Amino acid sequence: MSQSLASVAYLGAAILFILSLGGLSNPESSRRGNLLGMIGMTLAVLATVFGPRVTESGIAWIVIALAVGGSVGIFAARTVRMTQMPELVALMHSLVGLAACLVGFASYVDTSVPFQGAEKTVHEAEIYVGILIGAVTFSGSLIAFGKLSGRIGGKPLLLPARHWLNLVALVVVIGLGRQFLNAPDAHTGLAALVAMTAIALLFGIHMVMAIGGADMPVVISMLNSYSGWAAAATGFMLNNDLLIVTGALVGSSGAILSYIMCAAMNRSFISVIAGGFGSGAPKKATAGGQAEPQREVVAISAQETADLLREAKSVIIVPGYGMAVAQAQHTVNEITQVLRARGVQVRFGIHPVAGRMPGHMNVLLAEAKVPYDIVLEMDEINGDFPDTDLAMVIGANDIVNPSALEDPTSPIAGMPVLEVWKAKTSIVMKRSMASGYAGVDNPLFYKENNRMLFGDAKKMLDEVLAALKG
Ligand code: TAP
Repeated sequence: MSQSLASVAYLGAAILFILSLGGLSNPESSRRGNLLGMIGMTLAVLATVFGPRVTESGIAWIVIALAVGGSVGIFAARTVRMTQMPELVALMHSLVGLAACLVGFASYVDTSVPFQGAEKTVHEAEIYVGILIGAVTFSGSLIAFGKLSGRIGGKPLLLPARHWLNLVALVVVIGLGRQFLNAPDAHTGLAALVAMTAIALLFGIHMVMAIGGADMPVVISMLNSYSGWAAAATGFMLNNDLLIVTGALVGSSGAILSYIMCAAMNRSFISVIAGGFGSGAPKKATAGGQAEPQREVVAISAQETADLLREAKSVIIVPGYGMAVAQAQHTVNEITQVLRARGVQVRFGIHPVAGRMPGHMNVLLAEAKVPYDIVLEMDEINGDFPDTDLAMVIGANDIVNPSALEDPTSPIAGMPVLEVWKAKTSIVMKRSMASGYAGVDNPLFYKENNRMLFGDAKKMLDEVLAALKG
């Protein structure tokens, strides 16, 4: 394939990626968006493999790499549970960072293209920045994986004078960069590069270790953004326009997502990066429960829940992480259908950080075929709770916690929440009195108009459905 044909294919792929992102912004067009992205990626891979820069002997290596990488990808996609997706995404980000580092070192030791003068300086600067971003993304994403999967505690690691440590690291990295660009020979340059990589790896670990459990949603999207910039830097090193465009798309959309996450949690991006928030280690949800009820809660049965649903004219369902754990979305859809057939107005209220990844609830409800037009964002539905007969909270906790609004000392103070307690009656469906991800007690449970339906969400909803049909 000639260079010009490959460039046209790259342009086509870039346009398809942009259309794909556009499609993914809405559940109704997301399938088309996914398809366009897949066509774009196929085009990009074909144009690269059969492009002018790959020799015939190289194709065999690429096919082997595709077979190995593709098999691992298919295996991961088939076996990973929906609730483990954030961990998988964090691992994937770490691979992008690792790839940027490896490409950077390979570009530096590869002397087949002799760069001279200003061109050499620019090329080496690209390598330096690429490896820097790649190493931070790699180690930071591995720590994020550890935190999200519970292998590392959610409590932020706050070293004494940590901001000074970061500042010193930055100064040393700048100094090493100068040394690298002015290195008299490849050996000296490589030494500076290795030293900077070690510092960047430590910085990535330190940065994410210092971020508390409650801020993890922002960290996921932030590392997503970093992985995009690492890919763009790789594109500069390899002189590959498509990689630059794709990396920039991922980098900027990740940055926008981080901003949305910060707004959803009422946090500033700088304070998230500075770390230290969410000092309370998240309490693991266990069937037995850990947090002791401070006051009385009113527990009800599945039959009583069905009675309340039958009597209601308007119902708002608020799903959370527990619905994902229990895989209760299909039963939720069946209950929705039964109620709608009886003339009850049923809608869903979705918090931007419900579950464990952006769009987690939307994906589950779409999978269960809940109609899109009754699934509303928090801002669209929050004003409607006072006119609602029944708010049904399914496996959610932090996102319906009134202390975010009422208690300025709460770790989640200022975070906008779904105000379910304003409905005539609210029902919280969960297994115990255990706290949610942020590890804070929830005063909603003790409100007079609140009822608790204890048990696994899927099991309890199956019973509610049977009672509704019976
Ligand atoms: P959480 O506050 O984590 O609460 C989920 C609740 O579900 C738990 O209290 C748990 O109580 C219950 N639960 C677990 N398994 C269940 C099951 N099988 N059946 C019924 N209930 C079950 O979830 P949320 O309200 O969705 O809030 C999300 C939290 O995660 C926020 O703090 C957010 O900041 C954080 N976070 C979000 C993201 C993104 S991007 N969405 C990423 C990382 C972290 P029991 O143990 O008593 O059942």
